[in-house]
Amino acid sequence: MRVCVCATPEQATARVVARIARTVRENPRAVLGLATGGTMEPVYRGLIEAHRAGLGFAGVTSFNLDEYVGLDPAHPQSYHSYMRRHFFDHVDIPADRRFLPCGDCDPAEAAAIFEARLEQHGPVDLQLLGLGHNGHIGFNEPGSSLGSLTREKTLTRRTRDANARFFRPGEVPPQSAITMGIATIMRARSIVLLALGAAKAEAVAEVVEGPVTAFCPGSALQYHRDVSVILDEGAAKDL
Ligand code: GLP
Repeated sequence: MRVCVCATPEQATARVVARIARTVRENPRAVLGLATGGTMEPVYRGLIEAHRAGLGFAGVTSFNLDEYVGLDPAHPQSYHSYMRRHFFDHVDIPADRRFLPCGDCDPAEAAAIFEARLEQHGPVDLQLLGLGHNGHIGFNEPGSSLGSLTREKTLTRRTRDANARFFRPGEVPPQSAITMGIATIMRARSIVLLALGAAKAEAVAEVVEGPVTAFCPGSALQYHRDVSVILDEGAAKDL
């Protein structure tokens, strides 16, 4: 694991943007693994800027980590909508090469189809990851098998509370999601995890320096051969 501590969140974000841009420049047919969440919004803004400055995504294939079960792609809080709003509507990745799990399909079927697409177009060259406060990656909540593939996962109270801020007041956030499994994520050739702010510090310390355990799903990354963990000073404060 390479750990890089940047002075500010902006610098950490810029580093991740530069890494993704370099991957696409070096291999215009790269397969990117994409993530959602508040942390990623400025990453996509940076990539859109790079696109406007000439970086082409027309040869890229993308796979997103996860999607809420029960939300159709048009729902404003679905990850399909998030990706259109923050990235896809502003760059030129062809629509038929942008893969997300289907949130309003039968979950087992959606998971199987998603794994088949990964089999067909993968492996992912560069997987982007955020980090949940409880150490989750994708929606692999604590207790997820380290050997898991894409499947439906029940969300913990803490995750639903953390993500409730994106939903309208009174709207109940989904109880479960379809997520790439931990073993699915580990098949990526390279992984970049971005975590920002002191609220993530405890989870970061568990991921980087704790034991490898299903109780902190991100700790599985210690077994991957090419992982970069990009942090600001807040997120690194417990290391
Ligand atoms: C969700 C996503 C994760 C993401 C996490 C952190 O739970 N499924 O992939 O890492 O949010 O989000 P934020 O960046 O908003 O803290």
